[in-house]
Amino acid sequence: MKDSPTTEHNDAGPSHGGVGTDLAAPEGAALDNRFANPGLPAHRYRTTDIDPAAAKRAERQVSTIFLLSAVGTLVFLVGYFALPIDDDKSLGRLQLSTMVLGLGLGFAIFLIGIGLVHWAKTLMPDHEQIELRHDIRGTDEERRDASNIILDGVEESGIMRRTVIRNSLIGAMAILPIPAVVLFRDLGPLPGTVLRESLWEEGVRLTRDPDGTPIRAADVTFGSVFHVIPDGLSESSHPIEEKAKAAVLLIRIQPEDVQPLEGDLAVRNDWDYDGIYAYSKICTHVGCPVALYEQQTHHLLCPCHQSTFDLTQHCKVIFGPAKRPLPQLPITVDGEGYLVASGPFPEPPGPSYWERGASA
Ligand code: FES
Repeated sequence: MKDSPTTEHNDAGPSHGGVGTDLAAPEGAALDNRFANPGLPAHRYRTTDIDPAAAKRAERQVSTIFLLSAVGTLVFLVGYFALPIDDDKSLGRLQLSTMVLGLGLGFAIFLIGIGLVHWAKTLMPDHEQIELRHDIRGTDEERRDASNIILDGVEESGIMRRTVIRNSLIGAMAILPIPAVVLFRDLGPLPGTVLRESLWEEGVRLTRDPDGTPIRAADVTFGSVFHVIPDGLSESSHPIEEKAKAAVLLIRIQPEDVQPLEGDLAVRNDWDYDGIYAYSKICTHVGCPVALYEQQTHHLLCPCHQSTFDLTQHCKVIFGPAKRPLPQLPITVDGEGYLVASGPFPEPPGPSYWERGASA
């Protein structure tokens, strides 16, 4: 390898002890004059440096590892298409599919890393080098030398010459992004209106989460909080997705503590039932469950980024990154005294960014 003026190989053993060997330099002497430079130990050549057969063997090992990496990618792809989770949604299928995908992709990435390390340790140059400190921007000559070092490095790495290794690496890397393509495919179609709709509609009973028992208005005492799901959620074909939109908090406060709304929103002033208010539990920032209720201040807090919603102002945001109030669910009671929705949410629950470009 061609040396730059600021770079020295150590093939000839210790040879850098010349800078400042005076350990007994008087106090105040320049720091680099107080310590002996120990230099570097003699360079030890690897078997692959001196034995062409060993180098050839290492070359075969590296390319074999890269090819095995490609096998891992193929296992991922076979697992993805042979074990679809659309048809069989059982937990066992999900676990098997996840394991095969994870092992395949992990194996592929791991072996590319192992192949690169083995290549570097056995075949790439391993000269010890010293680069003396200097101004951050080198002279034009030094910059030219640096480019030459890189070009020499490329040359010495053998990537241009060792075509088997290069091509097997290119092959392994070329198919490695394919799993990303199929994973992006799993993100599914754009949501359309699905996020604007939930199981709440007129007459649907409010039930306790998770046991699904209905709630009487008389059960909701002042200061208590109920975590609520719509009746019939468990019979839904997508209960988890529906719950993510329909989860509600039920809280009772003194009606006179709540500031009345005005103008177009005044219609919402009777969306409570005798001081019992139902609000979406899904934070309008990025969708964490709003789970903390401060009884004294009537504040609801989201634990993720501390958005705070004021119940006395119809869950208006008074702190944090959320940009709009929690949607209110209008409620009343049915003939048996159970709390029911008197209509759907007036706007989509959850993060505001879903609403970009759509009218609320
Ligand atoms: S998700 Fe609630 S504050 Fe961020």
